[in-house]
Amino acid sequence: MAGILGISAFYHDSAAALIVDGKIVAAAQEERFTRKKHDHEFPVNAIQYCLQEANLRPEELDYVGFYDKPLLKFERLLETYLAFAPVGFRSFLKAMPLWLNQKLHLPREISKGLDGKYNKRYIFSEHHESHAASAFFPSPFEEAAILTLDGVGEWATASYGYGRDNKITLTHELRFPHSIGLLYSAFTYFCGFKVNSGEYKLMGLAPYGTPKYKDTILDNLLDLKPDGSFRLDLSYFKYCQGLRMTSPKFAQLFGGPERQPESPLTQREMDLAASIQAVTEEIVLKIARHLHQQTGMKNLCLAGGVALNCVGNGRILRESPFEKLWIQPAAGDAGGALGVALFIWHQLLGNAREISSPDSQLGSQLGPHYTNTQITTYLDRQNAKYRQFSDEDELVNHVADLIAGEKVIGWMQGRAEFGPRALGCRSILGDARSREMQAVMNLKIKFRESFRPFAPLVLRDRVSEFFEMRDDEDSPYMLLVAPVAAEKRLAQNNNAARGLDKLKDIRSVVPAITHVDNSARVQTVDPERHGRLYQLMKAFEAKTDCPVMINTSFNVRGEPIVCSPADAYRCFMATNMDVLVMEDCVLLKEDQPTAEKHKVDDYLSQFQLD
Ligand SMILES: [Fe+2]
Repeated sequence: MAGILGISAFYHDSAAALIVDGKIVAAAQEERFTRKKHDHEFPVNAIQYCLQEANLRPEELDYVGFYDKPLLKFERLLETYLAFAPVGFRSFLKAMPLWLNQKLHLPREISKGLDGKYNKRYIFSEHHESHAASAFFPSPFEEAAILTLDGVGEWATASYGYGRDNKITLTHELRFPHSIGLLYSAFTYFCGFKVNSGEYKLMGLAPYGTPKYKDTILDNLLDLKPDGSFRLDLSYFKYCQGLRMTSPKFAQLFGGPERQPESPLTQREMDLAASIQAVTEEIVLKIARHLHQQTGMKNLCLAGGVALNCVGNGRILRESPFEKLWIQPAAGDAGGALGVALFIWHQLLGNAREISSPDSQLGSQLGPHYTNTQITTYLDRQNAKYRQFSDEDELVNHVADLIAGEKVIGWMQGRAEFGPRALGCRSILGDARSREMQAVMNLKIKFRESFRPFAPLVLRDRVSEFFEMRDDEDSPYMLLVAPVAAEKRLAQNNNAARGLDKLKDIRSVVPAITHVDNSARVQTVDPERHGRLYQLMKAFEAKTDCPVMINTSFNVRGEPIVCSPADAYRCFMATNMDVLVMEDCVLLKEDQPTAEKHKVDDYLSQFQLD
């Protein structure tokens, strides 16, 4: 038995992944255990969990891999500092202690994390190799073009090439400081959101605006070539020399200084979001077309943080010549842990690749699982009132009734998801037909910005009825955006609301998941991957004829997605969630004797706003 541990750490979203004899056994992000969102510390908890899942001790591991090459990264930092000295000195000083204490001594740090018991080889793959490996090796394709796009790794900010059988070959790269990820992050920063976490919000904001700055961006900020490569005009940016992303010249071009975080959003931010989204889509489509021409392949694999831009992904699928797309669900740096482990097994050790259908990612359900005994032991200690069902049909029917009655459900089943999206294992569910549900969930359950849309779960066999997708199209990882089908939209959309109130307009028969441009971030649900969630949706469909539900991550704003029964129970008790379902146990809020002890403000104050 050959065990390979992959680690990603010290940037953001630290994670560990374990493969045994080439099969993915476990993968988890450190934040789920430490409850610190995007935790970048060495992932001791995630490693411990992965080893436990496979019943392996550190000394039984054959290889340990790290997802990038710290020395190359350090070289970039030094060179960038020297090129921009002395103005970059402050950010240089800020970064130094972590480098000198930890990043440059990785084998020592990793060894410490494995209790000093692992004394075989450490392997460091390149950052974009790790992303590429995470995109291709678990995919269902024998051969595919590969594209990775992110902020920056060591030097590369994008790379492409192809994968065939058990090997990947990266042929081209774009290098720092020219980066589509950093360009998007610069606008994220300028619009008052947090870099490396607010990009998703910016994408959600885009449909409220019009892309009126698109040409301004293309004419001033970058020189875009027909093959999708580009050079940024660095006088508009400051990320090389400082801790800010944009320069005064950037502000001048877009009519004044950046928006302060948490201040009201104005039409300018909406238009900026729409504009940078349009530019990003144009760049990504150009690269995809060029890559198709170069490789002549039918399939495309994607990874890197930019691959979480599901609006862009939807356009690649609909408008590029590629026929099929597979995207690593942990597309950001967490997925690099899985990538390096697979890279060692296939690329370096030459082991054959077994192609599985629908893929080898196991629905990305790769994290911790808790038994009914663990759950009831915990609940009993809290004096919680619950009902334990012995029959699955009865359970899903009961919960389906509650959802149809517009109750908001915390739903925890099976193994936790690997990657940033909740895919029905640690989710909050609600009735997509409800006119109020969107506002209730944003403001009273998640405590997040009211402009943010919710995503639908849809039974896969009815996907084309509700969304403009093919019958056989899969989106099990919520990485594609598709328009709501014309027949499901309301002929008379009042369209009265302006600005952020637009989300209140009733646009379709499933208004809670229809964004202001009639789009939706679709997750398809099938019996093979989704077990009890599928049964629940079938029960809901039988009662309502609606195969669609709202799915949002089980957390509040700034909180990592819940992992354990304790995390789920605390979040349930502190928020206005009505029902909590953990495996076979169902809790109703109204039955809980201690509900008033759980203060929402105390709960929210533990988490930094994201
Ligand atoms: Fe990355």
